[in-house]
Amino acid sequence: MKPKVLITRKLPEEIIKKISEVCTVELWEEEETPIPQEELEEKMINVEGVLCLLTENIDKKLIDGSPKLKVISNMAVGFNNIDIEAAKKKGIIVTNTPNVLTETTADLTFALLMATARRLIEASTYLRNGEWKTWSPLQLAGQDIYNSTLGIIGMGRIGEAIAKRALGFNMNVVYYNRSRKLDIEKSLGVQYKELDDLLKESDFIVVMTPHTPQTTNLISEREFKLMKKSTILINTSRGGIVDEKALYNALVNKEIYAAGLDVFETEPINLNDPLLTLPNLVALPHIGSSSINTRYKMANLAAENLIAGVLGSRPKHVVS
Ligand code: DGY
Repeated sequence: MKPKVLITRKLPEEIIKKISEVCTVELWEEEETPIPQEELEEKMINVEGVLCLLTENIDKKLIDGSPKLKVISNMAVGFNNIDIEAAKKKGIIVTNTPNVLTETTADLTFALLMATARRLIEASTYLRNGEWKTWSPLQLAGQDIYNSTLGIIGMGRIGEAIAKRALGFNMNVVYYNRSRKLDIEKSLGVQYKELDDLLKESDFIVVMTPHTPQTTNLISEREFKLMKKSTILINTSRGGIVDEKALYNALVNKEIYAAGLDVFETEPINLNDPLLTLPNLVALPHIGSSSINTRYKMANLAAENLIAGVLGSRPKHVVS
């Protein structure tokens, strides 16, 4: 008998077909709404594998209530939506989808950095609102990117891909990471800094570290006060690493120049959130890896991880 698996959102037809060849698939068909937690808990009782997204809260209660579960295949590189310890205790494999999204996420991070620095969203809205009456010297003037200093917090694969892009803009790249990356320092000429020094010296700061209990609110009131008034903060990693209340205050009080966020503490962000009233905040709906090719590759990799996990072989990308 084929093992039963749950897929928590619609995926490309070919990928569902590939999984269905070896598994009995239950699919949550709604594209715009995630599966409610109670329904998820109910469905998980009978499955050996789940292919889920970062929108699913795979907590201890759910894991403990899934007696047949062998593998949790997350279609994301980040896995802070999963209680890894609880899974480990039950011998359940957790997998993710690294590598395939590195360049796409670096592209979006750089696009967000540029859009924030040069006020692209504001400028486009200005034009469409009929406010463009003439050319004037400081009209929509922003910050230069070339020759500036970029501080990357978290020098993993995506951090390194961002650094490579920055070098093309003749940026001086510094980084902070739990452990030094001597190979990257050597190959790219980037320089390691202690976190406070990076915060003080950078014109652009990109948050690229995973969200863990240690990185929660890593950037908060104290850190904003260390930054320059012209600094631009970009976060395409996970909400919760940047303290949003502190960010709001820093933007309103002009302690920093602007911010670009692709990720939020709560997603989707509440439309009444005061952050969304600020012209110096560029906000995107968590689209870092969202190119057609990359999302396809992520789904395919998640499918391969799921299939390997339920069939008892070792999946390609096991996080625990
Ligand atoms: C991830 O993979 O963790 C991203 O946030 C979504 O692509």
